[in-house]
Formats: sequence, structure tokens, C-alpha cells
Amino acid sequence: MSVASLGYIGFEVSDLGAWDSYLTGFLGLMPGRSNGTSARYRMDDRAFRLQIDEGKADDISFIGLEVETWEGMQALRGKLDKEGVKYAPASDNLKAERGVRDLIVLTDPAGLQVEIYVGATVLTSVPFNSPAGVSEYLTGEQGAGHVVLASEKIDEVRDFYTRLLGFRLSDTIGIAIAPDFTLTLEFYHCNPRHHTLALAPMPAPKRLHHFMVEMATMDDVGFAMDRIEKCGVKQTMTLGKHSNDRMISFYAATPSGFEVEVGTAGIAVHDEVWRVTHHEVTSMWGHKRCS
Ligand SMILES: [Fe+2]
Repeated sequence: MSVASLGYIGFEVSDLGAWDSYLTGFLGLMPGRSNGTSARYRMDDRAFRLQIDEGKADDISFIGLEVETWEGMQALRGKLDKEGVKYAPASDNLKAERGVRDLIVLTDPAGLQVEIYVGATVLTSVPFNSPAGVSEYLTGEQGAGHVVLASEKIDEVRDFYTRLLGFRLSDTIGIAIAPDFTLTLEFYHCNPRHHTLALAPMPAPKRLHHFMVEMATMDDVGFAMDRIEKCGVKQTMTLGKHSNDRMISFYAATPSGFEVEVGTAGIAVHDEVWRVTHHEVTSMWGHKRCS
């Protein structure tokens, strides 16, 4: 039994106002119903895909991993029980806040809160409408996008997401940092999105290196690039095409310092025919660091 997709992402941020402008004006997410002090944003028919809470961390604070069915949720609970993995059934308050029917809360070996749930709220009567004119975000079975986590405890983190939660390795990229040192990034899928999760085995000031949102068309990405200057956003990497998922994307700094990747046209992975491979570069072209 494995999780099916990244359903939502939570960030703890020091400047809610800057994030609100960033998510709506620059990325084009639609404001959703807020819950208390949390602000929530939509990318599709789901009640929310991103949530921001005020705090000092300026980092990712939780991820929601979706299970497809009620039976699948029970099977995953059974597996975690069998493995002796600690988890907490969510309170009615937390379930209501997330808008899901069932939810358990775990902590990954690096300390990130991982929420596994079933039965997310869908708002068919309030259609998604991007305030910046994004035609569509590619979500559906591929979920909200991807997250790249940095951790020194790579063996434990890998074991948690693969053996316990069912993520499968897509491929690896070796980056030559020095003549005698190569950093190997690991990319994992849990649905046809090439990677929902990537792990970087390194110490870092924040858990999250970047998160990625995938837009439906190249025009959507182009229009987002046109908004960089208008929205006072700092671009961090030029347009480029990744070697492994073939995503055409650019990167920008968020108000919390970590980055967002805005992309389109990533390839789909199908387990029956997929072969795990290794790449020596992160990008076929582009993705040059901006000064
Ligand atoms: Fe990425």
C-alpha cells in the first residue's frame, strides 16, 4: 500500500502579506477559504493546495500525502502498525481544518510533519479561477507538484518514504561538486509525475530547497516570467530543461528565501515500462544561476 500523491503543502512564513501577493499576483493561485490564522490557496477544484501560517521558520512545515481510497487508508494504517511506526490519529479539529475525512500525522526522520489522509474536500460550485490568468495547473492524479528536501539523514529519510510510504525511485543525478566529491540527488515518484519528492543528502539551513508547481502550457510559464519584474520577484535560475523529468522551468526566490520552480511539460512515469537511470547533469540546457 502506498500513498498516491502530494495533496497539499504547508509553509511557516514570517511575512504573510508578502506571501499572499506572491502566491496570488505572481504564481496565480486562487485564495481559498482561510481557517483561523492560516491562509490557504487553490490550484484546482480542491479546497486548498498550499497553506501558509505565520511563524519564524520560513520553511516547509507539513506535507499532506493523499491515499486514494478508504480501504487504502486502513491498509496503510495496518502496515504502519505492523512496522511499529508511531503515528497519531488526527483530532476532529485538524480533520475539519484540512477538510479531509480521515487523517493520521507522522513525523519523518528529518522532523517534517507528514499528514496522510483520504477524502479531501472538492469545491465544484466555486470553480478555480487564477487571479493572474494561469490557464490551469497540472494537478489531478499527479498532485500539487513536487518538493525537494535536504537532509543529512538520507538513509533514514529514504527508508521512510520508500519502504513505509511506497515512493519508487525514478532516477538519480550526480552533481560533481569537486574533483573528488559528487553529490547524488534522488528522485522519487508515487504516481505518473516523474518526481513528487527529491532528496538531497546534504546539510542545509532549511528543510526545503524548493517546491515546484506545474502549469498547463508553455505560455503560462512565459506569462509568469513576464510577471517577475512587475511583481518585484527575484529570479534565481534562468529558463531551462531538466535532464531527468524534461521539465521546462525557471526558478525564483520566495519571500521565505527557499525557491519555487515554475514549470511545464514534465514527462510521465509509468511503472510497467520505466527504467531507473542516472544523469550526470541536472539540466539539458539553461537553468543558469542568476546573479
Ligand atoms: Fe524541481
